Amino acid sequence: MTRRIVVIGGGENAEHDVSLATAAAVAEALRSGGFDVEEVTIGRDGTWRRGQEALGSGVLGSVAGALGVIGRADAVFPAVHGPSGEDGTLAALCALTHTPMVGSGLRAGAVGMDKWTTKLVAEAAGIRTAPGRLVTAAEIAGIEFRTEVVVKPASAGSSFGVALARDASQLRDALACAARFDDRILIEDVVMGREVDVAVLREADGRRWAAPPLEIHADGLFDTRSKYDGSARFSVPAELDHGDRAALTEAALRMFDALGCAGVARIDFFLTDAGPVLNEVNTVPGMTAESQVPRMFAAAGLSYERLVARLVDAATVPGFHMSAICGAP
Ligand SMILES: Nc1ncnc2c1ncn2[C@@H]1O[C@H](COP(=O)(O)OP(=O)(O)O)[C@@H](O)[C@H]1O
Ligand SMILES: [Mg+2]
Repeated sequence: MTRRIVVIGGGENAEHDVSLATAAAVAEALRSGGFDVEEVTIGRDGTWRRGQEALGSGVLGSVAGALGVIGRADAVFPAVHGPSGEDGTLAALCALTHTPMVGSGLRAGAVGMDKWTTKLVAEAAGIRTAPGRLVTAAEIAGIEFRTEVVVKPASAGSSFGVALARDASQLRDALACAARFDDRILIEDVVMGREVDVAVLREADGRRWAAPPLEIHADGLFDTRSKYDGSARFSVPAELDHGDRAALTEAALRMFDALGCAGVARIDFFLTDAGPVLNEVNTVPGMTAESQVPRMFAAAGLSYERLVARLVDAATVPGFHMSAICGAP
């Protein structure tokens, strides 16, 4: 029987348009793979619609309508990057409705969305990260640094609110900009190294493996403009010697397991002279055919259409272990 998949895109954050692009590409690839696909979009105002059709009136009414659509799905494919999506919010909805979904559950989504918490987990798991400090938006007026630093919102994406600050005036501007995206802000040492991403896929049988890493050739910060104007250059597979490739892959798998990720995650590193330094984890990475993750799996011989189908095959009800607690003798 044809499986019915609900792809959810859009969302209430700065990455709304990026999420629409991911959702449209995923939906098209699933359709050409023979799935019955419904596209549901969360508007910038939080109202849900199916195609152009409002699913109810206001946020509450449309969420109620969306639950009806989700309830008829064989699986949900969440394609909402950033807060109120990737951060575990949609995974929670699937958990509560007992709906199988593609990708990570609530815990991995929430921890991966928060760059400060990710840092704490990574360091505890023996994976290096940039030395950094967390400040709240209320504290930014009193912050001073004598060295160059990178300033970023603790929870955002697509480089929104990320800036290099070289002096006091740039630091003030960077902190004010980051504070528009989150009330928790990270100030990090500048890491000198190559930018290399590793994609990890957990298959339906629980086996997880890493695709060949991808190197980003950016001039300075990999910023929002170069992410989407087509000017970024990627090398896939990245040119790496055996030791570096093994260290990156091992760290990516360790981080995937430390967070308890599922589906696909993109684990981003700086490759320094002293080895990999974790930058961040994306549990709902960009997934158009041209995005990093599909390009990495293509380098492993897995086509975009097959990748999204494999993700659907691996869909599970997130965090569903109730029988172990309540039902089993
Ligand atoms: N500590 C750092 N040192 C050097 N460059 C950094 C650092 N943190 C981030 N960057 C640069 O900024 C880009 C965006 O930062 P990132 O933390 O990945 O935010 P986002 O989640 O928005 O992608 C990175 O791809 C990298 O080029
Ligand atoms: Mg990034």
